[in-house]
Amino acid sequence: MAPRALVLLGCGWIARRHAAAARRLGIPVLAASRDLARARAFARAHGAADAFGSYAEAVRDPRACGAVVCTPHDRHLDDALLALDAGLHVLVEKPIARTLAEADRMIAAARVAERVLLVGENFHFMPAFRHVRAQIAAGRLGALRELHLVARGFRRHAGWRLGVAAAGGGTLLDGGIHYVHNLRAWGGEVRRVFALRPPQTVELGGEDAVDVLVELAGGVVGLLANSLGARGVPRFQWSTVTGVDGTCFADNRGRWVLLRGVDGARIRLFVRDTRGHEAMLKAFESAIATGASPEMDGVAGRRDLAVVLAAYRSIAERRAVDVPC
Ligand SMILES: NC(=O)c1ccc[n+]([C@@H]2O[C@H](COP(=O)([O-])OP(=O)(O)OC[C@H]3O[C@@H](n4cnc5c(N)ncnc54)[C@H](OP(=O)(O)O)[C@@H]3O)[C@@H](O)[C@H]2O)c1
Repeated sequence: MAPRALVLLGCGWIARRHAAAARRLGIPVLAASRDLARARAFARAHGAADAFGSYAEAVRDPRACGAVVCTPHDRHLDDALLALDAGLHVLVEKPIARTLAEADRMIAAARVAERVLLVGENFHFMPAFRHVRAQIAAGRLGALRELHLVARGFRRHAGWRLGVAAAGGGTLLDGGIHYVHNLRAWGGEVRRVFALRPPQTVELGGEDAVDVLVELAGGVVGLLANSLGARGVPRFQWSTVTGVDGTCFADNRGRWVLLRGVDGARIRLFVRDTRGHEAMLKAFESAIATGASPEMDGVAGRRDLAVVLAAYRSIAERRAVDVPC
């Protein structure tokens, strides 16, 4: 039987999400940590088939077919290269990398190794957000006009996210990139970006809040407000997509989508795999089995990163910035 196990590189927060999704799908996982005791504790708690105190040792295990890179942003390139070098397919957590040059190296290495590279932007796989995409594609909103995405809350981080080099950016590169992806997935490619940030209040390696105005293909306008420094804002928030024939409202946590248009209102509820982690692992397995590039491949992850970096340039240069194709 072909090896099917996934090596989780790093036993932190997101690794737990991947382990839980893999368990529900019956995919064996191997836990790899820089610390063997931590890997063993993770394996016990989350049902991993084995534990390793070294990433390099884990990726060489004959049971492994893929690696899930669950490490800080400055580790993504090296950890992905380590796995590719061992012949594994790679699911790298978002953002693909800190810079376009790092992303290009990763994409090229996967291509040369003829291995799948999937970027773990789970919003792409969330059933509610895919439903929004389907409504737009079916023309239920008519020609698009505006997208308003609001993801604001209050959160203090610790550890590597406080370091500029390790994080590579602030809230937009970290959680905000998911919403950047939705701008692209729903509205088309982002052509131009103007971004501003308010004065910092939360300690972080980069900005704690950002407001981004974008021009999308065909003149559609997008607005993304993303913050970790918005005290008092409730978690109940939604994204709004407006076309000439109606508006779609999508719960940020993927539990419902409401469409209001010329034919009245329709709501759809989502209860299974609302965060899309299972769908993402299925897409990874399917790409490995078929050899076809996954939808959320390195190029797609790089496009999202390019928008974030253009927003950072816009903030620094206090002007609108074109996004490189
Ligand atoms: N898709 C999502 O919704 C989502 C949500 C949260 C995070 N993420 C992404 O997942 C990745 C990890 O984030 P996280 O929140 O899981 O972070 P975390 O809880 O801090 O876990 C990161 C793990 O990386 C390993 N690591 C390797 N080198 C390290 C270093 N120099 N400093 C600190 N840790 C190091 C550590 O595992 P060992 O000690 O076991 O080696 C650590 O537990 C990031 O890319 C992040 O953006 C994605």
